[in-house]
Amino acid sequence: MKTVSCFAVIWLAWLSLIQGKPTLLIQSPEGPVLESQSVTLECVSDVDSDMSFYSIQKYSRYMMMWINLEKTTHLRCWYYDVNVTRADGRLQLNIPSIQSWNSGSFRCVANNATNEESISEELNIPVHYLRDISIYRDSSFYSRYWDQLGVMNVTRGSDVEVECSASASETPSYTWSKQGLEWVQLSNKLKLQKVQDDDAGLYTCTVQHPTVPSLSKNRSFQLYVVNEKKSWLGPDQMNLILMTAVPAGVLLLIILILAVYLSKRKAPIVKGPIDDHSQKKPIYTGSQESLPSAGDTQPLV
Ligand SMILES: *[C@@H]1O[C@H](CO)[C@@H](O)[C@H](O)[C@H]1NC(C)=O
Ligand SMILES: *[C@@H]1O[C@H](CO)[C@@H](O)[C@H](O)[C@H]1NC(C)=O
Ligand SMILES: *[C@@H]1O[C@H](CO)[C@@H](O)[C@H](O)[C@H]1NC(C)=O
Ligand SMILES: *[C@@H]1O[C@H](CO)[C@@H](O)[C@H](O)[C@H]1NC(C)=O
Repeated sequence: MKTVSCFAVIWLAWLSLIQGKPTLLIQSPEGPVLESQSVTLECVSDVDSDMSFYSIQKYSRYMMMWINLEKTTHLRCWYYDVNVTRADGRLQLNIPSIQSWNSGSFRCVANNATNEESISEELNIPVHYLRDISIYRDSSFYSRYWDQLGVMNVTRGSDVEVECSASASETPSYTWSKQGLEWVQLSNKLKLQKVQDDDAGLYTCTVQHPTVPSLSKNRSFQLYVVNEKKSWLGPDQMNLILMTAVPAGVLLLIILILAVYLSKRKAPIVKGPIDDHSQKKPIYTGSQESLPSAGDTQPLV
């Protein structure tokens, strides 16, 4: 029974194909689409050799509708740079530099479309990428921004953890290697314990995209082993001290100003009750003086 219905589905699919359902294909590139590549799509049909009454559309997730990519409306410029060409009855769409946010569903329709037969299957174009690698030490906030220079000074005897990361269209694989050694660490984290002089050298992190072999990048840094005193006086540490000391100093200053201001404001209030003047008059001094101006003839008490 299942096989019969399965065949029926295939038969129906075939029927719709020979009935002239258009097809949208990726003409170039062959193989996976990479970010910033030029991509060309073509709409073809088995029954029509002249595609001049067909259009290519893209689904907009924001407007939740299909948008004709050819019409020169404000929508198109708000959209992105694409180029539709119609030469010799062919219909082609070129995206000069595809970006990951361009990915989505495309389709091809006959302009007088009245039913499903004149609309192609949706074509999804996954855009692959592997962006720049960053290397940072100990995943601490400070080192994230200061160890990007390709040099890392590590105190002799200390433990070091260096992390490598890159954003990619699919989770990439990471390997660490050291120049001149066969040694390879299959992780995005390079861990060195009790660093000794022979740990110094050039370390390289290589990032590989899992499905696109051509997407591979590497980044290196030079590790120096230094004495404790020397490293404490290094510019990195001076920066760290400055960056910590400056905000702390500003905070202290704010606290001091606030303290002075509060103590000055407090002074008359403290003096008030002790003052002879205030003892002679009731506490309502202020309100009594302001009452006549309000025109009230009734005494307050
Ligand atoms: C559109 O594509 C055609 C041929 O592919 C080319 O000659 C033309 O310069 C392109 N126009 C733009 C704006 O990219
Ligand atoms: C659409 O128009 C073309 C020619 O303009 C015609 O050949 C085709 O049969 C029409 N299709 C439908 C579904 O009306
Ligand atoms: C790093 O990549 C460059 C090309 O970008 C390559 O020439 C070099 O051999 C790579 N280095 C390592 C250690 O893989
Ligand atoms: C690291 O140490 C080297 C010498 O071992 C020195 O020339 C360099 O200035 C140091 N760099 C930093 C950032 O401390």
